[in-house]
Amino acid sequence: MLYQSLYVPEGGVPFPRDVVTRPELAKYVEGWGRAGDVGFVAIDSRDGELLGAAWLRLLAGDARGYGYVDDATPELAIAVLPEHRGRGVGTALLERLLEAARSVYASVSLSVSSGNPAARLYERMGFERADDGGGASVVMIKSLRT
Ligand SMILES: CC(C)(COP(=O)(O)OP(=O)(O)OC[C@H]1O[C@@H](n2cnc3c(N)ncnc32)[C@H](O)[C@@H]1OP(=O)(O)O)[C@@H](O)C(=O)NCCC(=O)NCCS
Repeated sequence: MLYQSLYVPEGGVPFPRDVVTRPELAKYVEGWGRAGDVGFVAIDSRDGELLGAAWLRLLAGDARGYGYVDDATPELAIAVLPEHRGRGVGTALLERLLEAARSVYASVSLSVSSGNPAARLYERMGFERADDGGGASVVMIKSLRT
């Protein structure tokens, strides 16, 4: 799922599969299940097929990720398998995840590549732009205390 969460523009060259072993990406999933991790998978109720996943992890201090805003705000990652995109699975995952996160965190952040249509989904879910990351990506944040 970490691999599928990486945005590749239409017609772009896919990342090599082993890109997810790079420390700057692996830290989003390595040792999953530690305190503060929150995540959900979406499963097709008809056949149990895995459709996607969304998760949050606190990446603080030296371990900060691409969507870092402060040491108390976890970063969101999300992926829906390519053949299941655009059918509401990502929206459902985000709604469920943000609801669960509300009792643990005051806010959630993420980094999205400029040009990724997912930014529209995040805006619909109440995320706001925190900074433009210098052009290649945008950091977005959503308060869970409203
Ligand atoms: C982003 C993603 C998780 C959304 O899941 P989804 O099930 O396709 O989303 P939904 O069907 O609930 O909502 C559709 C919205 O997702 C966004 N979206 C992003 N990439 C999309 C894609 N390839 N196909 C369809 N929708 C996409 C759009 O905002 C779209 O809304 P719009 O039609 O108004 O533009 C999924 O498309 C995906 O895995 N994309 C590739 C990886 C990625 O970009 N992850 C996020 C990194 S920050």
